[in-house]
Amino acid sequence: MQKEETSFSKGLEGVVAAQTFLSHVAGQEGRLFYRGLEIYDLAKYSAFPETCYLLLYGNLATKPELDRFTQEMTRARALPEGFLGLLKTLPKNLHPMAMLRTAVSLLASFDPDADNLSREALLAKGIRLTSQMPTLIAAFERLRRGKEPVAPDASLDHAANFLYMLSGNRPSPAHAKALDAYLILLADHGLNASTFSARVTVATLSDYYSGITSAIGTLKGDLHGSANQRAMEMFLEIGEIGKVEAYVQGLLANHKKVMGFGHRIYKTEDPRATVFRQIAKDLCTGPAEKWYQISEKIAEIVQREKKIYCNVDFYSASVLYTIGIPVDLFTTVFAMSRVIGWSAHIIEQLADNRLIRPQAEYVGPVNQSYVPLERR
Ligand code: COA
Repeated sequence: MQKEETSFSKGLEGVVAAQTFLSHVAGQEGRLFYRGLEIYDLAKYSAFPETCYLLLYGNLATKPELDRFTQEMTRARALPEGFLGLLKTLPKNLHPMAMLRTAVSLLASFDPDADNLSREALLAKGIRLTSQMPTLIAAFERLRRGKEPVAPDASLDHAANFLYMLSGNRPSPAHAKALDAYLILLADHGLNASTFSARVTVATLSDYYSGITSAIGTLKGDLHGSANQRAMEMFLEIGEIGKVEAYVQGLLANHKKVMGFGHRIYKTEDPRATVFRQIAKDLCTGPAEKWYQISEKIAEIVQREKKIYCNVDFYSASVLYTIGIPVDLFTTVFAMSRVIGWSAHIIEQLADNRLIRPQAEYVGPVNQSYVPLERR
């Protein structure tokens, strides 16, 4: 058998598998841009719906456009009639990411236009699902604790409304702002693993919901979205600043990964981590201050010992914890943000589609003879 000319890259490192207008991850410089705009400015000056508009339509909205778009998002928050009844049938001990994967797949059956791949239909689905996802996550959280879901409050913005539906109380402006910044900063990130999944799925001309369901399943992994949950679990397990050094040295000695560190693309600090370090410092006060202090100590040791930097999931973990998000819900909050990026990528993929089908290099045995069953 003749060997074919192939070049193999484990984990597709260095392979360019798509062209995109959506976001640019400048790994050497540690900068991130959405549609050419630096994320720092978006996090400082705008709110999440503005980033959604930017990613979907390609430009910053004018005031009337943004007002209309924000109203459209606010109106789309409610879950379809009858959906809560189905949500109640899911096991209460289901991991929230498994719930989300199932629930989004189920939402397709409430959309009579589920298979429509036109740009118009995809825009409508992207806006609707981005608006509904917080309602879905908050309802599941309350149901599993034996509480009734709280209906969305149209007078609250996207981030504040989620915190309100979760606890039943209006959040402080500082908590709502921190969550809003989180949603902005995680909305898109080049061809990350879950976005790649979404693009691969829809490139076969499957449907929008299948694309998002694939993406959620991919985000669920510890090396991707669940790193925020794992980082917080590590802080809780360490518990106090005096135990950090021994804990981290133990991980490194056993060749274990420290969650919230390392990145395939960034060769310097993840710019989102830079923003979250400051937010964590400002927000983690009083009894919560120790989470910030533990993070700082871990970062110092990992940088000294392994020369690797923390990523977005590291400092954002203590921020999500301090604003009252249950730890096993962290990755669903990541999905609440990234769903807009996935939606924009699905639209971009289908605007100029080609099946995504890489090759595998066969490295197994060759020229084997078939041995009849009775002689094996
Ligand atoms: N803790 C300790 N060592 C780490 C590390 C971490 N979090 N991340 C990478 N490394 C080390 C690896 O052990 C490896 O060292 P070696 O060459 O001596 O074996 C080297 O850095 C390269 O790591 P590798 O896993 O091959 O890099 P990758 O590009 O394939 O993976 C990540 C990138 C993000 C998956 C990886 O850094 C990781 O597992 N991080 C922890 C999970 C996480 O935070 N994910 C969220 C990403 S936003």
